[in-house]
Amino acid sequence: MPNKVNSYEGSPKPKRGEMIVICSAKGGIGRTVLAVNLAIALSKNNHLQISLLDGDYQFGDISMAMDLHPTFTVKDVVEGMDRIDQHTLPSYLIRHGSGVKVLAAPERPEYADLIQSSVMDKMCELLLAEHDYLIVDTAVGLQESTIQFIEKADQVFVLTTLELAAIKNTKLMLETLDLLGLRHKVQLIVNRATMESVIKATDVPDILGVEHPEYVPNDFAIVAQSLNVGIPFVQNQAKTEIAKSIFKMAEHLISRREIALFKPKPPSFLQTLFYKTKGNETLS
Ligand SMILES: Nc1ncnc2c1ncn2[C@@H]1O[C@H](COP(=O)(O)OP(=O)(O)OP(=O)(O)O)[C@@H](O)[C@H]1O
Ligand SMILES: [Mg+2]
Repeated sequence: MPNKVNSYEGSPKPKRGEMIVICSAKGGIGRTVLAVNLAIALSKNNHLQISLLDGDYQFGDISMAMDLHPTFTVKDVVEGMDRIDQHTLPSYLIRHGSGVKVLAAPERPEYADLIQSSVMDKMCELLLAEHDYLIVDTAVGLQESTIQFIEKADQVFVLTTLELAAIKNTKLMLETLDLLGLRHKVQLIVNRATMESVIKATDVPDILGVEHPEYVPNDFAIVAQSLNVGIPFVQNQAKTEIAKSIFKMAEHLISRREIALFKPKPPSFLQTLFYKTKGNETLS
C-alpha cells in the first residue's frame, strides 16, 4: 500500500513551511512558555498558518498552557498513520482560538514508548506541507526524539537562563550539537534575562561563544498567571515587555524567511554552462 503521507494524488507536495525546534539542556527553563507564545505571536500575521507539535511525549503540557482539550494526540497519529493525509490531517489537530493548530502530546507518559520516530518524521513533513511554520516543543535534553527533530529543523532555539547550572549544561549542549554538525541551526535564547544573577545577560555571548542571542525578560507574575489560566500572555498582555520580546522574535523569524524566499537562487548547472558557452562565443 502506498504511503499516503508521501504521496498526494500521486505526486509529493513540496515543503512549504519552516520548522523551529525549541529545546534546552535543563528542565523548567521556559521551552513550553516560549513555544506557545511564539506560535500565537506568529499567527497574528493573518497570512500565516501555524502548527504546534508537543514533542515532549512523556510530560507535554502545551494543551494545559493553551487551555485545550484535544480529542486526538500524537499517539492517535501513530496508530492511524495509514489513514492520515492532507484531507484527514486537520481532524487530528486541535485548533486554538488564535488559529494555531496543535498536535498534543499523549495523555499518559507510558504512551511515549509507542511513538515511532519514522511516523513522527512523516507527520512533520505533512505539517510542513500544510503550514508556514511548525513549532516543536521538546522534552528536556538531547533525547533521541529531540535529536531527530533537530536534524529535521530549519532553526533550533536553545534556551538557557542565567543560572550557573543552566549555562554549564547549555555549553555542553552546544558542544554536542557542534559535534553532530548541527550547531549552525542554533539560535540562543536567554530566558529570564533580567533575573538577579551573578552571570549577567550581556556576559552570555562570550561565555557560550554565541553571537546575537535573543533575550526574554523575567516576569514571573505574568508567566505564572498566564499558565494558571491557560491564556498565553501574547494574547491578553501584548503590551508587556515579555510579550514584546516574543513578538520581536516572531518578526525576526518572518523577515529572515522572507529574505531567504526572495534571495535569488544560484544559477543551475545548465544556466552556468549556457553563460559559459555564450561568453566563449563572444570572445571568439
Ligand atoms: N520569562 C519568564 N519569566 C518568569 N518566569 C518564567 C519565564 N519563563 C518561564 N518561566 C517560569 O518557568 C517555569 C517553567 O516554564 P516552562 O514550563 O515553559 O518550562 P519548560 O522548559 O517547558 O519545563 P519542562 O522541563 O517542565 O517541560 C514556569 O512555571 C514559568 O513560571
Ligand atoms: Mg515544557
